[in-house]
Amino acid sequence: MSRNTVAVVIRVWLCLPPAFLVVDRAARAQDDDSAGERLFRLHCAECHGLDGQGGQGPDLTKGAYRHGSTNQALYQTISQGVPGTRMPSTSLSDRQLLLIVKYVRGLAGVARVSVPGDPTAGEGLFARRGCRQCHMIRGEGGRLGPDLTSVGSLRSPANLRTSILSPDEQIDPAFWSVEAVDKDGKIYAGIRLNEDTYSIQILEINENLYSLSKNNLRAVKFDKKRSRMPAYDGMFTGSELENLVAYLYSLQRNAGDP
Ligand code: HEC
Ligand code: HEC
Repeated sequence: MSRNTVAVVIRVWLCLPPAFLVVDRAARAQDDDSAGERLFRLHCAECHGLDGQGGQGPDLTKGAYRHGSTNQALYQTISQGVPGTRMPSTSLSDRQLLLIVKYVRGLAGVARVSVPGDPTAGEGLFARRGCRQCHMIRGEGGRLGPDLTSVGSLRSPANLRTSILSPDEQIDPAFWSVEAVDKDGKIYAGIRLNEDTYSIQILEINENLYSLSKNNLRAVKFDKKRSRMPAYDGMFTGSELENLVAYLYSLQRNAGDP
């Protein structure tokens, strides 16, 4: 090889790596996206929906997140979970977590699901059909069921429909029915508001609140299969149900909501 040829070969070789890298980077970005999507479908879709629009877990397509919207905050939420809720922590690797964060970011801006019902009619039904007795909305209503002030940010329309028709299908552990019997045979039945090693707090259907020392209890029995919420299957016409769902789905989170 002449010196000239060597120089050309070296120059060509020097030029090549950046070009390779560009191609490689584009291919990797695509790989990353599909890896992120795969991970999401495997670990998150069960609760957040296949396309991230929500189910048992909140809609993640809005680009703003209650627990923080920076990359760090998302990373934190996704790796640590949200204690006291169904959002679990995970043992995914750093790289997998970063891929998921990136994928979740990319979900932002996807259109909201449109619902057919009339939210104003739904609001009327909610008041007239006894829902308020157990559910609080913006500070008004009962405490036997979850506060629904921003349930539309937390659940998909399909999930809301199921909650109304068959509440037993999925019961929030915070609302498991419990029955405690003390040493005198007195029975306390309601939902478990709170529990620690020594005591349990039970809210009865008439909203009496008992704090019972476990030392004084003969038995505590949970019913994790039956919700305190009555099943409304067959109690609403199809359009009434759609109106209720539209109303609940319209209850979106504002700053300061629970
Ligand atoms: C078993 C159900 C479940 C699974 C699995 C799950 N989540 Fe969640 N997730 C929830 C619930 C419920 C919440 C709402 C927690 C709350 O009330 O603050 C939540 C909250 C979040 C939030 C915070 C939303 C906000 O507004 O701040 C993000 C982000 C999130 N999840 C992402 C993920 C990702 C990514 C995965 C998969 C690695 C995942 N979740 C797996 C149920 C789940
Ligand atoms: C006797 C009390 C009671 C009444 C009446 C009641 N609910 Fe409930 N509701 C509950 C309880 C307890 C839960 C939580 C346990 C569960 O998930 O089933 C719940 C859960 C829900 C959920 C799911 C909330 C979530 O975070 O996913 C929705 C939606 C709901 N109720 C809507 C309604 C509507 C609409 C009505 C009226 C048609 C109604 N409820 C009447 C007690 C009640």
